[in-house]
Amino acid sequence: MTLSEWFPHTTIPFIANAPMFGFADVNLATAVTKAHGFGFIGGGFDFRTESTQLANLKTQLAEARSILDLAENETLPLGVGFITFQSEGFVENVIPILWENRVAAVWLSFPKDDEDHEVLIRAIRRYRDWDVKLFVQVGTVRAAETAVGQGVDGLVVQGTDAGGHQWARGAGLISLVPEVRDLVNARNATTVVLAAGGIVDGRGCVAALGLGADGIVMGTRFLVTSECPAPSAMKQTIVASSDGGVSTIKSVRHDVFQSTDVFPRQYDGRAVIGVSYEDSQEGISDEEVIRRYNEARKAGEDDRRTVWAGASVGSIKEVVSVGDVIQTTQQEVRMILERMKGEL
Ligand SMILES: Cc1cc2nc3c(=O)[nH]c(=O)nc-3n(C[C@H](O)[C@H](O)[C@H](O)COP(=O)(O)O)c2cc1C
Repeated sequence: MTLSEWFPHTTIPFIANAPMFGFADVNLATAVTKAHGFGFIGGGFDFRTESTQLANLKTQLAEARSILDLAENETLPLGVGFITFQSEGFVENVIPILWENRVAAVWLSFPKDDEDHEVLIRAIRRYRDWDVKLFVQVGTVRAAETAVGQGVDGLVVQGTDAGGHQWARGAGLISLVPEVRDLVNARNATTVVLAAGGIVDGRGCVAALGLGADGIVMGTRFLVTSECPAPSAMKQTIVASSDGGVSTIKSVRHDVFQSTDVFPRQYDGRAVIGVSYEDSQEGISDEEVIRRYNEARKAGEDDRRTVWAGASVGSIKEVVSVGDVIQTTQQEVRMILERMKGEL
């Protein structure tokens, strides 16, 4: 089975948006699906019964059904992604919501230990009347091996150019994707391979496909779209950034400064180097940087907020629509391949 058989509304090459929690909401995800990509909603990380994230997810899934004009029993042609390092409550509280809403895909990422996904995957597989595809984001070959062993349908191979959280010790897509592809092939597994990390246009997409991916995921590119609920200042910071290897950095410090340092230590995150990071480089203590951050937020200023973004920020020149991103990327891919065919 291929991606376009699993998700018949999608066109090739397959493009999905990353389930960026707080940014990939129902509007972004349904816009991606409507534009013949595959939309993911960011479902969050709090799976307790009283979780407001889950209450919000329920509302969004009902909204998605209405936006896409689907009957009650029809599969919802989008997925939901979760951050799983504290997975208590997932089986009892999350899976029933996903099943009731007939979501077409689930994305798991950032477990405390790779083995922890086994229980969640088994619990989802118990629902025989639910045709759901399971994706796990992996940043190392070892994590990919574990996920393939757990019988996932798809791997999202995340390279270190990626925006947002990621494996602290990892590699770029150019070395990671071929090694994961070989691993999947050597196992005779049918696992689909998606590439994520620094892809923002057709050029990156062709590269990823050449490396052995079956499709791509973009995060930062979809963050800078008119449908994304991210604050305009955040989008403009990315548009104004260039030379991503210099203007962004992979570090746990971004979380420390805004008191969100809750991820297990095997993960860090890539974001635009901002005021807080610069203060810290100049020798200002963490306590003081955090104090300044809190004060700015209290005053309603957004300039210290972490802008999670990938190393390809320099190729994002403007805010465009989701439809534009998907159409242009797919068109570019065809043009590049045509040109290469001629040249070769
Ligand atoms: C703003 C932002 C938020 C993100 N949030 C999540 C998240 O909630 N869950 C997740 O699995 N990945 C998250 N990621 C990482 C993406 O899944 C993906 O690996 C990354 O966006 C790919 O790199 P790119 O941004 O260069 O396209 C986030 C990325 C960004 C930029």
